[in-house]
Amino acid sequence: MLLSFLLILHLQLLLVASSSSSEEDKSSERDRQHSKGSSHQHHWGYQDQDAWLSAFEYCGGKSQSPINIDTHKVLHEPRLPPIQLDGYDLTGSHSLTLLNNGHTLQLSLPSSMRIRRGFDHVYVAAQLHFHWGTTEVPGSEHTIDNIHYPAEIHVVHYNSKYANLTEAASKADGLAVLGGFIAIGLHENDNYEKILSALSDVSTEESLTVIPGFNVRHLLPNSLERFYRYSGSLTTPPCLQTVSWTLFNDSIRVSRRQLAALEESLKTEHNKLLSKNFRAPQLLHGRKIQSSFHTSDSGKTRGATPTETQDKNIKESSGHILAVTFGVLFAATFLIFSIYTYRQHKKYSKFKKDSKQDVIYKPAPIGKDTDQTTVTVS
Ligand SMILES: *[C@@H]1O[C@H](CO)[C@@H](O)[C@H](O)[C@H]1NC(C)=O
Ligand SMILES: *[C@@H]1O[C@H](CO)[C@@H](O)[C@H](O)[C@H]1NC(C)=O
Ligand SMILES: [Zn+2]
Repeated sequence: MLLSFLLILHLQLLLVASSSSSEEDKSSERDRQHSKGSSHQHHWGYQDQDAWLSAFEYCGGKSQSPINIDTHKVLHEPRLPPIQLDGYDLTGSHSLTLLNNGHTLQLSLPSSMRIRRGFDHVYVAAQLHFHWGTTEVPGSEHTIDNIHYPAEIHVVHYNSKYANLTEAASKADGLAVLGGFIAIGLHENDNYEKILSALSDVSTEESLTVIPGFNVRHLLPNSLERFYRYSGSLTTPPCLQTVSWTLFNDSIRVSRRQLAALEESLKTEHNKLLSKNFRAPQLLHGRKIQSSFHTSDSGKTRGATPTETQDKNIKESSGHILAVTFGVLFAATFLIFSIYTYRQHKKYSKFKKDSKQDVIYKPAPIGKDTDQTTVTVS
């Protein structure tokens, strides 16, 4: 009874979804017709990133982002000034707009939030957003020694000498983005929950909601002291090469459930899942990456504080090593087993020859392999 009701409800939802998506088809068709020849702002996607090159001239430039950070090639620059943030501690009296724009989950930020020190100018916050993968595929944009983190946060700022983000975006010293790597930890991250708890309100493309302000500083890693710095671009079209990137070495932890919520809640065009919204790493073309800290002091082993996900990635990248190891182990086991059965066989026939008794079955010593069956009552 209940089951058939649910089934009917489900079918109806499917019908509604398909009819509304065909409406979207029509309107996006119109958009495309409309924007033909002029700007192609509307229809770029992560599936075909090579197509960005023909539609947006800067995407093929020599200072593109994201990049891989080879920690052994980073230049330690002790004079890099530390980042000092201002006005990040918003309160509930601020209202922040959370938007699913079809490419990412974006939170608008008030201009009272700033990077006070760290650059030659003050930079004003405009928005923050995320990049992620799926539960199977880690989706940070930047990689560390070719390893992706599960997700990445970008806090976008513009130079205060320009009127707004749009104007600054085309200027050489226009933008400063703070980036943080998001890893999986054992605990819920209460600060991220301020955003993630509103995901169901922005599940469809171009939907938005308003959430109360909170301390945005807490979305960034605990330590802002250790960071990488390089010159790059927007990681989405039009790929303007006007971003001074700051990527923190300390990562952020959210729970597996929270990450899954980000990966599985949002829809993009045609009602498809919004996931894997990360651009592939771009060539350095001779650019230098600076760091505010020592990266490869020889004594330290890589991944001294590995997260579960780093583990996962290391496992993935060395899958062939594992395969070989298991192959060898299997062969060894097989060999040992063969020798064992051969010996048993010999012993058995010898036994049979010596005494003409029946074979005695010898049970395994109790308590060795039978822990589970010999649980004592206390
Ligand atoms: C940004 O500033 C420019 C120059 O002052 C102005 O023309 C433009 O309308 C502004 N755009 C927005 C979105 O405020
Ligand atoms: C942080 O720095 C250490 C030391 O160089 C490195 O092993 C680790 O991968 C770095 N992590 C990130 C996210 O940069
Ligand atoms: Zn971004």
